[in-house]
Amino acid sequence: AVVLETKYLLVSQANGVGTIRLNRPQVLNALNLALMDELVRTLKEMERDEEIRCVLLTGGSRCFAAGADIDEMAEASSVEMLLKDQFAQWEYIRRFSKPLLAAVSGYALGGGCELAMACDMIIASETAEFGQPEIKLGVMPGAGGTQRLTRAVGKARAMEMVLTARSLSAREALAAGLINRIVPVELLEQEAREWAEEVAAQAPVAVRLAKQSVLKALDTPLETGLDYEQKLFFFLFSTEDQKEGMRAFKEKRRPRFQGK
Ligand code: HXC
Repeated sequence: AVVLETKYLLVSQANGVGTIRLNRPQVLNALNLALMDELVRTLKEMERDEEIRCVLLTGGSRCFAAGADIDEMAEASSVEMLLKDQFAQWEYIRRFSKPLLAAVSGYALGGGCELAMACDMIIASETAEFGQPEIKLGVMPGAGGTQRLTRAVGKARAMEMVLTARSLSAREALAAGLINRIVPVELLEQEAREWAEEVAAQAPVAVRLAKQSVLKALDTPLETGLDYEQKLFFFLFSTEDQKEGMRAFKEKRRPRFQGK
């Protein structure tokens, strides 16, 4: 089990799902370095824990996260920002091998929106709001807000969001393809948990490679991507879970996946 002292996160695990709740409500879960460091350390533990097969990342009902901590950046120089090396934390999240599901209610702004987009799927409450308001602070997004956002919603919407700070409602975000689904705020936790458990019940090695392969599609030409996919597909035929999955289908029973 994952046991870590955390000041800004609430961490729990059950039924194959590790849950991380951003918990810095006084400042709308502003992502300071210490919080991000706790997040990465928790993910590292969850990466190693074989019981955990899917990670659910969430915040409060009023706010997922209102961005990077402005107090921490306001007086910084370029060199100080560079030396902080904060993007190493984001790079770790990008390379995390297990599925990451974000459950977003209320504000997901700036780094908060970027954090949700760094996850593999996003489930949102009706009150969710996604935006990249950095331009109003005299800067621009720095953790994927011009890249992942553009890939997800296209140039026209990304430009509008990044250049005018206009945010998307949950409904707009769904229509734009930024998020997977919307549920009423009071059902968000339960639906997100059920969804994460559904992912956690699949064959872990297949899930891991399938995640890698989908992400590969975002930055390779089709031929390279298809080749990559085929190699991973062949590889899965060396797992016991493939034999079990197909046998269970033939025997009309539920498979028992072992992660081997
Ligand atoms: C530090 C923040 C914060 C942030 C809110 N707070 N967002 N502190 N960093 N990003 C603090 C406020 O200062 C305030 O503290 C308390 O949280 C409550 O916020 P209010 O503004 O009073 O609430 P409200 O009026 O409801 O407005 C909510 C809001 C607004 C619209 C979300 O807080 C807001 O615009 N926040 C900033 C959003 C933003 O610009 N995000 C991008 C950051 S840059 P006090 O002490 O006054 O009670 C970024 C770059 C990422 O993310 C780069 C890669 C990592």
